[in-house]
Amino acid sequence: MKVERNKSLKAFNTFGIDAYASEFISITSVEDLQVILSKNSDVFVLGGGSNMLLTKNINQLTLHVALKGIEILKETEKHVYIKSQAGEDWHKFVLWCIENNYGGLENLSLIPGNVGTSPIQNIGAYGVEIKDTFVELEAIEIETGKPKTFTYEMCEFGYRNSVFKNELKGKYIITSVTFKLTKENHKLNYSYGAIQSELEKRKITEPTIKDISDVVIEIRNSKLPNPKEIGNSGSFFKNPVISKDAFLKLQENYPNIPSYKVSETEIKVPAGWLIEQCGFKGKRYGDAGVHTKQALVLVNYDNATGTEIHNLAKEILKTVKNTFDISLDIEVNVI
Ligand code: EPU
Repeated sequence: MKVERNKSLKAFNTFGIDAYASEFISITSVEDLQVILSKNSDVFVLGGGSNMLLTKNINQLTLHVALKGIEILKETEKHVYIKSQAGEDWHKFVLWCIENNYGGLENLSLIPGNVGTSPIQNIGAYGVEIKDTFVELEAIEIETGKPKTFTYEMCEFGYRNSVFKNELKGKYIITSVTFKLTKENHKLNYSYGAIQSELEKRKITEPTIKDISDVVIEIRNSKLPNPKEIGNSGSFFKNPVISKDAFLKLQENYPNIPSYKVSETEIKVPAGWLIEQCGFKGKRYGDAGVHTKQALVLVNYDNATGTEIHNLAKEILKTVKNTFDISLDIEVNVI
């Protein structure tokens, strides 16, 4: 295990923020992880770095989870149980599943990050969330170094949420995740408007999981910035859920406001739309900006600091609150 000192984290966070870790270790085995934690439990854990904004240097031992490996645990006639180690790249894992004709994750193609961090915010896109195929995960308790298996119920999944963002925040390091995928009769989900219209454009009437993945990749590429080109963390804010009464009032002034019904009394409104209405879409302040094609995504054009991006986020929060009386929640972990 090599300890690196004063290590730049620029290549380890998709925002491309040039913050430094005083000490840095790449973890390639669970045993190594347990040895380290037995000596020092004051650690900062770095997965794919795709859902964090670093606003300061890290003066703790930084553990980069680089555990690799994909394994088929068991197969039935219709299903396969696949365990992926936490450090596998999410999109590569999804593509591997598609190549092997294992269905269930295709709508989640091209989401940045690692497998191990996917359950923390229950990643989701185009009508699918990882909770839909999740079986269990293995994690190491930071305080004790002890392994623990978390079932579906124990993870308390919600919209962009889980127990690991709440009571257990900072308490465990996820080391592997197991999914149950289909081998046949895949349950395709292409109800999302953009997927449907892209399939129609391609004249595909009976899509395969590969078709869905291709279409999702096309849609994401057309709307969302590629973190390898422009630093970003995907959606910076969550879509707010407001009361039906508040929504009906808003609709009087903004008849075109998009919405999704959550329940009889609650409506979800796209934060991207609210932010665009406030005039932020495509705005740039130095190297910090709001993406030109999706106002929900904040970007680092080159050398923005985490604080500059955070200040822009605060400005957006204030303006949306003043304009719509809606308090947005930041989805990204601000460090
Ligand atoms: N919209 C605007 N202006 C914008 C952005 C969006 O008016 O700048 C409107 C769109 O026209 C559309 C609606 O908002 O009517 C929804 O937009 P979109 O389909 O792009 O989805 P979203 O609600 O903005 C969510 C997820 C994305 C996910 C997409 C597709 C959240 C916080 N974000 O975005 O997730 O890819 O749905 O399922 O739930 C991520 O988490 O990093 C992420 C990209």
